[in-house]
Amino acid sequence: MASAQVIPRRATDPPVVFHWVPFVGSAIPYGNDPVKFLFECREKYGNVFTMILLGKRMTIALGAKGNNFILGGKSMVFNAADAYQPFTTPVFGKDVVYDAPNDKFMDQKKFVKAGLSITNLRAYVRMIEEEVADYLAKDSAFQSSPSSTSKWDGQFDVLRAMQEITILTAARTLQGKEVRDNLDKGYAALYADLDGGFTPIHMMFPYLPLESSRKRDRAQKLMQKFYVDIIRKRTASGELGSGKQENLEDGYDMLSTLLGQQYRDGQELKEYEIANLMIVMLMGGQHTSSGTSAWALLHLANNPDVAEALYKEQVQHFGTVHADGKVEFRSMTFEEVRALPLMDRVLRETLRIHPPFHCILRYVREDTAVSPELTSESYVVPKGHYVMASPIISQMDPLIWDSPEKWDPSRWTDPEGVAAEAYKVYLDENGEKIDYGFGKVSKGSDSPYQPFGAGRHRCIGEQYAYMQLGTILAVMVRNFELWIDRVPEIDYHTMIALPKEPRMISYRRR
Ligand code: HEM
Repeated sequence: MASAQVIPRRATDPPVVFHWVPFVGSAIPYGNDPVKFLFECREKYGNVFTMILLGKRMTIALGAKGNNFILGGKSMVFNAADAYQPFTTPVFGKDVVYDAPNDKFMDQKKFVKAGLSITNLRAYVRMIEEEVADYLAKDSAFQSSPSSTSKWDGQFDVLRAMQEITILTAARTLQGKEVRDNLDKGYAALYADLDGGFTPIHMMFPYLPLESSRKRDRAQKLMQKFYVDIIRKRTASGELGSGKQENLEDGYDMLSTLLGQQYRDGQELKEYEIANLMIVMLMGGQHTSSGTSAWALLHLANNPDVAEALYKEQVQHFGTVHADGKVEFRSMTFEEVRALPLMDRVLRETLRIHPPFHCILRYVREDTAVSPELTSESYVVPKGHYVMASPIISQMDPLIWDSPEKWDPSRWTDPEGVAAEAYKVYLDENGEKIDYGFGKVSKGSDSPYQPFGAGRHRCIGEQYAYMQLGTILAVMVRNFELWIDRVPEIDYHTMIALPKEPRMISYRRR
């Protein structure tokens, strides 16, 4: 077979990764293990190169400087909506996020951020503790009696358990009581159909006439109607309006905040837009959080000394030890969950090795010179390419981190260490915060550590995610000792990097 044309078209084009089959390009090695593939490309081509991925030309810029070049770039030049809109609009619905003009989207981010206020997050910790405890009391995997032949009481599939716990806890908190009450009555099935239409295949070929796409479109309509009906019911009964229900649980949900919000041009946020934003919350928080808690538990189960230290941290802060040795735990507050040093390190380290998004895309609207910080070559990324940032590469780079493959929460303890420095830059503590239209945030795009993205598209769910993950892990370690002999390999074929099967963790009740 003749080799594909891999000579750049113009002298200023970045080098093109060698591939045998035109159109398919590097899809197979990249899809199977993007981290291995991108590190190999860095060896051959440097920090900036172009790969062909199913007909699309993707220019990758690696390292902290590469992240900054792409995520710190101007939206008129590197555009997220052009890259994401075709496959996200069928799932999220019309006129929100990437289907809305940028200033409207930034307003929508501001509205959602208002719903993720500290007041609301404070109310959620107890609700999440209750949901997890209730799940553990009912789910069949956690009902085994102690065994006389094994140290362990039973086993659970960690990804299944975390997916179920994540949707239960998100439903109870952000999504509100109507969603929580309907979870077993059709909502979960609609979610599954929506999710089935949100895969790498749909991302690469949004217009293929697949059965999964038909189901997704039907689910989007029904899900939107479900929320619009809730809004109408709440409005009719006078139950809604932000702040009106301060003392009731459902006064803290996202719908309460979104109702009555106005865009900067004075237009009201419409019912169907609120419904679609609720779907965005659902899709934005589900796999990211469930994947992260699953990975954290797998590493804890594989590092029982760290799990034991995490348990002791819980006992020290929230436990009362009775004469018979039994420990009784009290509820945590939001501030307490966020101030647990080891919990924080466990989450940071898990997100370093397993950032849910291993690549972040933008569409190139104008020929753009590559910053000289990145390469000594005078490359220009041509209009019509996509640019791709891959923070996982800088988070796993052996040139930056000691033994980057090793899950080691203690790397975050040294205040002068690489990890602490990367985190400081990510939070941009001393730098000027920037307002992209949804409130001031740290830019953070210069850091080699950026699991929540950076710049104008930076995640607004970070505080919620830390609170949700910290609370779930706390309840798990309070209840169980965990064990797995090896951490599963990473499956990169899903939208979010997830643990391959088998991923059964053994547990023993404390
Ligand atoms: C462990 C949990 C999470 C991780 C690691 C994560 C990661 C990210 C990343 C990397 C981005 C940037 C995407 C880009 O630049 O293209 C992002 C954006 C975003 N995330 Fe999250 N996320 C998490 C949880 C959540 C949750 C719980 C929510 C909602 C409640 C959420 C809502 C959003 C939204 C609305 C954006 C903005 C997208 C944009 O401006 O284009 N995320 N997230």
